[in-house]
Amino acid sequence: MIILGIETSCDDSAVGIYCSERKVLASVLATQLEHRATGGIVPEVASRAHLRNLPPVLRAALEDAQLGPEDVDAIAVTRGPGLLGSLLVGLAFARSLGESWQRPVLGVHHIEAHLLANQLEREMVFPAIALVVSGGHSQLMLLRAAGDYELLATTRDDAAGEAFDKAAKVAGLGFPGGPVIERLAASGDARAFPFPVARLSDGGLDFSFSGLKTAARLAWEQEAPLSGQRLADYCASLQDAVIRQLLDRLARSLRGHEVRACYLAGGVAANRALLAAATEMLTPLGIPVHAPSPRYCTDNGAMVACAGALRLEATGESGSLAPFPRGVLRSWGAAF
Ligand SMILES: Nc1ncnc2c1ncn2[C@@H]1O[C@H](COP(=O)(O)OP(=O)(O)O)[C@@H](O)[C@H]1O
Ligand SMILES: [Mg+2]
Repeated sequence: MIILGIETSCDDSAVGIYCSERKVLASVLATQLEHRATGGIVPEVASRAHLRNLPPVLRAALEDAQLGPEDVDAIAVTRGPGLLGSLLVGLAFARSLGESWQRPVLGVHHIEAHLLANQLEREMVFPAIALVVSGGHSQLMLLRAAGDYELLATTRDDAAGEAFDKAAKVAGLGFPGGPVIERLAASGDARAFPFPVARLSDGGLDFSFSGLKTAARLAWEQEAPLSGQRLADYCASLQDAVIRQLLDRLARSLRGHEVRACYLAGGVAANRALLAAATEMLTPLGIPVHAPSPRYCTDNGAMVACAGALRLEATGESGSLAPFPRGVLRSWGAAF
């Protein structure tokens, strides 16, 4: 089955093509630079940019895969969570392709697409534990199978990616913060700044990154501007604090669950220091840790196509195409 995936939940206009037998055939993305000037995403600007970007991105994806519309069996599109206007543009685009190509259109949950991005480059095994960390989400999930999910923990306030993005913003390092902080952290000392790891008073598994965000801002303001080695130390300490919290929850989430693998997913999973630390922690327990290649960790169309293909092949159902700005991931069969 060859399936085309469309992702427009935030500020990336992406189209990917996935084939069940041959994996990723194309993954093309237009990142919106329009938001640089405003220092944050303006929803109205994002919707208009998707409208402009999608036709050329689609053409480039078909060209890369050397396919025509007649070769595509179905179209998958992100229904949510995300910015409502951006989702609506992607959904309208997918529907019109479906109409003109006479193909089914499936709505996909963005978090499920991130999770199943792990299937793009290797066969996933179950049951598994998954850590989904991005600019908008931090979740721990038990995966009994593709389509069978149990949410174990979420964030009480901010997402892991936000800690990277806000720290980068106060330090004037641009957006998104994750990649530049990871690069600078490589030559820094993670013990230089004593950034905290939040512990919840109820001892629960949920994440909390707002305290770290504030600590990073205060540390910066006390010494600003940091540069050279001190800036590298700042980045290393921040990255280490994020990783320590993620690993603390990951380790505790395993209690009582027998799993065959651990999957990292979402933009923050592009961080190879996180992958290395999780691998070091779980390998002695006999649990292999996997993350997609960095380009499939951050938002992309191939992961949407893959999630759509797995569901369509397993259930034959295309489901609703109503957008939802918020909403937890449910298992296949449960309405979402
Ligand atoms: N190498 C990296 N290390 C840490 N964080 C990263 C890295 N690459 C990207 N990120 C973070 O991932 C987030 C984007 O995740 P993504 O899934 O693409 O978007 P969204 O949050 O809109 O779903 C941003 O917060 C960004 O800083
Ligand atoms: Mg995402």
